[in-house]
Amino acid sequence: MSFAWAKQYEPKSDFTKWIDEKLPLPRMVYNAVGAGYPVPRNLNYMWNFGVLAGFFLMVQIVTGVVLAMHYAADTSVAFGSVEHIMRNVNYGWMLRYAHANGASFFFIVIYAHIFRGLFYSSYKAPREMIWLLGVVIFLLMMATAFMGYVLPWGQMSFWGAKVITGLFGAIPVIGEPLQVWLVGGYAPNAATLNRFFSLHFLLPFVIAGVVILHIWALHIPGSSNPTGVEVKKESDTVPFHPYYTAKDGWFLGLVLIIFSAFVFFAPNVLGHPDNYIEANPLSTPANIVPEWYFLPFYAILRAFTGDLTIPFTGIVLIEAKFLGVIAMFGSILVWFFLPWLDKSPVRSGSYRPLFQKFFWVLVLTMIVLTICGGAPAEQPYVLISQIATAYYFLHFLVILPIISQIEVPKPLPFSITEAVLGKTEEAPKATTPATDKPGDDLPGGSLQPAE
Ligand code: HEM
Repeated sequence: MSFAWAKQYEPKSDFTKWIDEKLPLPRMVYNAVGAGYPVPRNLNYMWNFGVLAGFFLMVQIVTGVVLAMHYAADTSVAFGSVEHIMRNVNYGWMLRYAHANGASFFFIVIYAHIFRGLFYSSYKAPREMIWLLGVVIFLLMMATAFMGYVLPWGQMSFWGAKVITGLFGAIPVIGEPLQVWLVGGYAPNAATLNRFFSLHFLLPFVIAGVVILHIWALHIPGSSNPTGVEVKKESDTVPFHPYYTAKDGWFLGLVLIIFSAFVFFAPNVLGHPDNYIEANPLSTPANIVPEWYFLPFYAILRAFTGDLTIPFTGIVLIEAKFLGVIAMFGSILVWFFLPWLDKSPVRSGSYRPLFQKFFWVLVLTMIVLTICGGAPAEQPYVLISQIATAYYFLHFLVILPIISQIEVPKPLPFSITEAVLGKTEEAPKATTPATDKPGDDLPGGSLQPAE
């Protein structure tokens, strides 16, 4: 969607005119993230995380490419090559700590971005495709991070890889041959390390490609905003540049200070000390835990302790391990259906009192799952994980569809401008349905958006 009031790119010098004729890349940038992109004027700080995610993706690619110049994907030297990077390579310690903590920050930023989407229902029409591509990005990020953690070939690398690749073995009939094929043997070994390195190098570029599609899909309807009411007129928007370049830049500076504090003063706080012990297939760590950002999903995986059997016969239908695998992947796959599970005509959680309460219960559930995922697989953590897992699925599959039908939302402002200035405007409708299209209800004339 481009609005009629969007500023037009005008090349000034002969050189920029020539470029514009041959390859209008500056025009594209101007219209995508420059003054030519009108954005709702009321975006709050939760809308900064998309740009931050892009920044951390770049940090990972740049630091990762340099690390790869010094890393050796061979089980006999991988652990040593990481120590070599830390001690002998110029600023190698900084690159490695920036990469390891960069992964954590990437996930922090992405969780904020996803939960912003969940609160403001950014997944609703007309932005379903942005959301669906986002879920694909998240799955790719998980695969990339998992394989990256195996590369230093420490104790947690090896045993984490063993547990997670072992999950494929739980698939009935084809499980075991599939696992051996994927791992290149019966346990993580030299072949595994090589293929994980190759894929870990490749996937961030695939993510970058999907991010381009994500941003492209975003530019069709334009950004949503904290009211959830679509843009109706020029005064609802400001140009992306300089308003949001400044705001994103300021926020990036703040996050960089926090990031630097971790990289320079507490680089190992988010990691596991056991990964400073070289992988030993003969010594199992007491508690095998993945990186913190996988913990809620790990808790869901471990919540299934009993097989699914036919009552009174003892015949096993699905083994506990496979149930856990289904639930773990299902907990993310359910996000794909979100745009159609939540049928509320109102988009923003700010105007949905009941939805809001359940949203915070979901956040709490995720925190509880994170704690349980990091705890040993024993009581009471197993029971708590089971309750939290049940609630997690209940939230998306039952609670959300029901409250979206029965909830009485608060009255919506007529427009973004009204919400910002607090003035009541003449509204043709009492409320604006969430499924309205950008530019609906325009008074007409020059304010009509150009498709
Ligand atoms: C590398 C990862 C990602 C990058 C670089 C990225 C980038 C962005 C950017 C720059 C925006 C516009 C600014 C903003 O709304 O914050 C955006 C919007 C959005 N993103 Fe992402 N994103 C990523 C991952 C995800 C994921 C994992 C999801 C969901 C599962 C997601 C869902 C959305 C949605 C729904 C919007 C539209 C928000 C709205 O306008 O209300 N994104 N993304």
